[in-house]
Amino acid sequence: MSRVWMQWQGEMPDAWLIALLAGVLAMLMGWRLLPPWWRGVLLVAPLVMWGGLQIHPGWFLAAAVILLLIQFNAIRHRVPLYRSGTAVIEALSEEIQQRGLRQLADVGCGDGHVIAALARRFPETQFTGFETAPLLYLLARWRCRHLSNCQVMFRDFWRVSWREQDAVFTFLSPEPMLRIWRKCQRELPEEGALYSLAFEVPGVEAESLIGAGRFDLYRYPRLPRQSTISEPE
Ligand SMILES: C[S@@+](CC[C@H](N)C(=O)[O-])C[C@H]1O[C@@H](n2cnc3c(N)ncnc32)[C@H](O)[C@@H]1O
Repeated sequence: MSRVWMQWQGEMPDAWLIALLAGVLAMLMGWRLLPPWWRGVLLVAPLVMWGGLQIHPGWFLAAAVILLLIQFNAIRHRVPLYRSGTAVIEALSEEIQQRGLRQLADVGCGDGHVIAALARRFPETQFTGFETAPLLYLLARWRCRHLSNCQVMFRDFWRVSWREQDAVFTFLSPEPMLRIWRKCQRELPEEGALYSLAFEVPGVEAESLIGAGRFDLYRYPRLPRQSTISEPE
């Protein structure tokens, strides 16, 4: 019996092949359940674990530093990076056109792809992006380098005034939405509006719900100061 076992063991495929198979299986299992970028992660994860001992630890340190430079605000403000899609750019374009918006800020602009695309389409409108994750800020700056109507600032958006803006676009998380809304009320002009992708302001009814691909875009015109928000105790 033990001889049979030994012989069978001898025919075991190489460990890297098993790791590759595990990766392919994991990728197929997550195919429909997870966003597409997970496929690559699931595919290589077992291979990385298998080869882990052969990888210089410096690479892990480098990966952690890069992750930190990108996802800096996940720790600081509980808002990680995820990008809005082209449907959001289309929805915002429609709004800019219909309402004649002149100043729009993307607060937490990530790599700047939204404001850069809009700035190209609407040269008469001024776009401002605020971003404090260092690598994303640099990317956004680079994207907007030839666009005179698109500026990217390395500033915490809580610490800058939004008074100049006709509209503020956010794609953040449920966590800051009430605070965002209060800032809009304090600082946006009467006719200003907040556009929030995916996340509602708790206790405030959106004026309209604009289809924008996977998520909806909520439009909140700035209310009079006597808003209906109930203050937390
Ligand atoms: C979910 S991403 C959205 C990126 C982009 N607006 C889009 O729609 O593709 C949110 C971004 O907000 C940034 N962020 C979060 N809190 C911030 C703050 N207080 N000041 C500046 N940027 C912030 C994060 O670094 C992240 O890049």
